[in-house]
Amino acid sequence: MKAPTIPSCSFPRGFKWGVAAAAPQIEGAARKDGKGESVWDHFARQPGRITGNANLDVACDHYHRFASDFALMRDLGVRRYRLSLAWPRILPNGDGAVNQAGIDFYHRLLDAMEAAEIEPWITMFHWDLPQALESRYGGWRSRRTVDAFARYADVIVQAYGRRVKHWITLNEMSSFTVLAHGVGERPPGIKSGEEVVNLTYHHALMAHGHGVRAVREYGGRGARVGLTDDAAIPVPIMESPPHIAAAQKAFRELNYRSLDPLFHGRFTSVYRRLAGPNAVRAQRGDFNLISMPTDFLGLNVYTGVYVRAGRGGRPEYLDFPASFPTADASWLRLVPQAMYWGPRLAQSVYGADEIYITENGAGYDDVPNADGEIVDLHRRQYIRQCLGELHRCIQHGVPVKGYFCWSFMDNFEWLDGYTKRFGLCYTDYATQRRIPKLSANWYAEIMRTNSLV
Ligand code: NOJ
Repeated sequence: MKAPTIPSCSFPRGFKWGVAAAAPQIEGAARKDGKGESVWDHFARQPGRITGNANLDVACDHYHRFASDFALMRDLGVRRYRLSLAWPRILPNGDGAVNQAGIDFYHRLLDAMEAAEIEPWITMFHWDLPQALESRYGGWRSRRTVDAFARYADVIVQAYGRRVKHWITLNEMSSFTVLAHGVGERPPGIKSGEEVVNLTYHHALMAHGHGVRAVREYGGRGARVGLTDDAAIPVPIMESPPHIAAAQKAFRELNYRSLDPLFHGRFTSVYRRLAGPNAVRAQRGDFNLISMPTDFLGLNVYTGVYVRAGRGGRPEYLDFPASFPTADASWLRLVPQAMYWGPRLAQSVYGADEIYITENGAGYDDVPNADGEIVDLHRRQYIRQCLGELHRCIQHGVPVKGYFCWSFMDNFEWLDGYTKRFGLCYTDYATQRRIPKLSANWYAEIMRTNSLV
């Protein structure tokens, strides 16, 4: 019997598919070739901070295995890879001498990517601040860290600008601002008040501005740059005008510290209302930097929060019931509609006119079966639902131009250590063998056909 054909669910021609990872989560070689300590190296060495007291010393040993990792990517048909550079490898003290061995390492890595015909999308900063900046200046609490970042951005864009055309300044500011200084559960792990949280956001946004400036100055022809944000995404409980209007208001309220200053180039009335007396006292020129025009907005989309129109149309945020479907990573409520509303609200509320999904995926405690295969139907299911929503979003005219799956392989998942695996490929940490999971082969087919299979 002939199998029936179904109409294809294609993405636009030229849609950019890729995979993502980040230096501190995969490289290891934490002390090799002159690398300085990062705040995460430092934090992980404090007992009790990370599940299983895991550290970043070896991770996926990508530092020594990048060539075979790229060969595997190539086998899977990966054409774009979002990676990050380790600031402490390039400038071990944050703002002192450049470590030539660090510069050379990424040249070798980029050579290998070029040979495998994989295009680099480089994140300048994926949370691994040089510990020296934390110890000397107080890290993101200080403008000296902004100055140090400006120099770091100049150094890397000058070094790699000839061969790298896609730059992302910062990854998910919330991690090293509100979660680090407000919640106090990420390095430096000190719980402070709102005033400090707002200040760290302001400094992060200024650093972003310097990243943009560096790409404009030294990036050469065709260089493009944007920020990757983890905007909190409200999902209207019903797709009807009053609830959508509430979601639009919620989008600004939830992201008032990041997207509002970035897109408006000033502290808006929404910011002032929500920050109150804890608002930052910006200096002259800060906002020129913060709101430098970018080429795209990166969104990391994992989850969302449901809202409905409450009294006077104000957004009312709904709690998740205990039995709401959730990944093994307990923060990851499975809300595929966030993939529709994230980009759509970024466009309608802030006018974002070119958007990339720079991360999406799901963390589970995968285990190989008796045959050594990882049949991760749960991950495939969630990513497929998200891609269905992304397809719908693009059909509705939202300018999403690409999608990067997090992550190429299981890696150091921050506070969760080596649990809560997000990889398309399984990392066997005892042997450092990579085993493509069922989802990797499925995603390979999506990239190959440019459609939802
Ligand atoms: C976002 C972060 O950028 C990445 O580093 C992390 O591993 C994933 N979320 C999953 O938590």
